[in-house]
Amino acid sequence: MKEQLELIKVNALAALEAAETPAALDEQRVKWLGKKGELTAVLKMMGKLSAEERPVMGQMANAVRAELEAKLEERKAAINAAVLEAKLASESIDVTIPGEEVTLGHQHPMNQVLQQVKDIFVGMGYTVVDGPEVEYADYNFTRLNIEEGHPSRDRSDTFYFTDDDSVLLRTQTSSMQIRFMENHQPPLCMLAPGRVFRKDEADATHSPMFHQIEGLVVAEDITMGNLKDVLITIMRKIYGHDANVRFRPHHFPFTEPSCEMDMQCHKCHGTGEVDGKVCSTCHGEGWIELLGAGMVHPEVLRNCGIDPDKYSGFAFGMGLERMAMGRLKITDLRLIFDNNIKFLEQF
Ligand code: PHE
Repeated sequence: MKEQLELIKVNALAALEAAETPAALDEQRVKWLGKKGELTAVLKMMGKLSAEERPVMGQMANAVRAELEAKLEERKAAINAAVLEAKLASESIDVTIPGEEVTLGHQHPMNQVLQQVKDIFVGMGYTVVDGPEVEYADYNFTRLNIEEGHPSRDRSDTFYFTDDDSVLLRTQTSSMQIRFMENHQPPLCMLAPGRVFRKDEADATHSPMFHQIEGLVVAEDITMGNLKDVLITIMRKIYGHDANVRFRPHHFPFTEPSCEMDMQCHKCHGTGEVDGKVCSTCHGEGWIELLGAGMVHPEVLRNCGIDPDKYSGFAFGMGLERMAMGRLKITDLRLIFDNNIKFLEQF
């Protein structure tokens, strides 16, 4: 039996050493150490040994087993390392192969114009602020001197959230005038860009959601002259020095006097016609309404705790989409919201 064990040991060690792959190694493990393996077969014969021989042979058999197991582990590690080595060698990365190109996007044309407008106003000392789109009727209408029953409060024009019409989607950024004056004393200069919502059918110049940029200046001795100067300055900076604008008298409940400013239509150049047909961009007007403005109504100042005998101010609210259309010569407002990449890539 001793010889048998010796033989197993020598042959098994040699066979394990010769195994080159994980599969071949496993085959040898089963052959020598498995349940039906050579070593197990010898151990099964232990019962036939005498009482003196048994512990000696047992010890020897265990030593052989331990040695084979150690060899097995050693070969396993060596083979795994070799496999990894081969893999690394065969899978080398060619860093010179050109990669997949990542296409960079760019700012939406409307944001480009918004950024430009903000930069100009920040340069003039305005503070840019943000406000809620879901607004109280109190801020959107009442404290702006727009009384109950005024047509702009109508349910056919405004998106309301509550049955008592007290909460709504703001229809204008003018709500920010109140919010700002509530917390700031004159002299003050603020700019509030944001989304506004009205129940309008979409066409070339209308959309139920659009952007306004509200401006407000309140200090001592502010006049309509200051208002015109600021608006003409910004138009020239955006559209160039030959930009044609006009002021028309208008009415807003929260400004007195009030006006609207138009820009000459960039499609028909003020003629109202394109190829003998009515210009679709300005509906034949020759002008595109850009903003509403005026001197802050004394009642609005009072509603915010500001003394109208001491202070005066002006406010304006411009339509960002219309500004962008003029700036970028876009003829249909809906294109701005369509997110058609082919269209947007042009800017
Ligand atoms: N909020 C007005 C509108 O949406 C514009 C406006 C703003 C007019 C500020 C006067 C002063 O039409």
